[in-house]
Amino acid sequence: MKKTLKTIFKKKGVEKITMLTAYDALFAKLASQADIDIILIGDSVGNTILGYDSTVPVTIDDMVHHTAAVARAKPDSLVLSDVPFGVAHFGFDKILHDCRRLLQEGGAEAVKIEGGKKMAETISKLVSAGIAVMGHIGLEPQQILRLGGYRKFGKTDEERAAILEDAKALEAAGAFALLLEMTDSQTAKLVTESVSIPTIGIGSGADCDGQVLVCADLLGLTERAPSFAKKYANLREEIISAYKAYAGDVKSGKYPENK
Ligand code: KIV
Repeated sequence: MKKTLKTIFKKKGVEKITMLTAYDALFAKLASQADIDIILIGDSVGNTILGYDSTVPVTIDDMVHHTAAVARAKPDSLVLSDVPFGVAHFGFDKILHDCRRLLQEGGAEAVKIEGGKKMAETISKLVSAGIAVMGHIGLEPQQILRLGGYRKFGKTDEERAAILEDAKALEAAGAFALLLEMTDSQTAKLVTESVSIPTIGIGSGADCDGQVLVCADLLGLTERAPSFAKKYANLREEIISAYKAYAGDVKSGKYPENK
């Protein structure tokens, strides 16, 4: 059955929400068949698929292209697309224009925007325009050049209070859910208990309303996955060994067979 914002919202406090990234139709179909609630076309497409070192170089054209590939799979999962680096800071017309592209050209059903209370006004206006928005707080990977590295957020009282304030501001702005990345687990728990909208965690402990992982990390395709990402398969080794077996068969004349 097709997942909607309503389906996701109703799960808070009742059942955990599952979210996974996908960047193309092949993997979107697999996620949908596994009954994943939300497929995120993350700007992690930059480091996972496009060969960049971070999400910073990813453009709106990249996001529209990969979102459209996912949407063509017609997944039952909610199709959520990331607003890439910089877009949210040009002004409202630019972000409205680019969200419109993600929805109309890409087929996204919702968008995700990094940033806490500083994004609240923009998110409120996007919601008024009919766009479903997930907030993204804690670690904001698009800030990597300023931060100089990835780290956990919300460990100190000051950061905990700031994250809680961000969460409440985004809830008030009309965000339908919050992604909490690399957030201290006690802070993530506090946020989850303090807002009425679902929280989705990554590297933020077990007490969020749902969890998200980058598909390549979960499948064991990434060379260096973050320590919190549980590997549910070892496809990297399986693929390399299948490719080697194929190459061996071609070289030895075992494949193709002369039929
Ligand atoms: O781009 C992405 O994959 C993300 C992760 C935090 C899931 O935003």
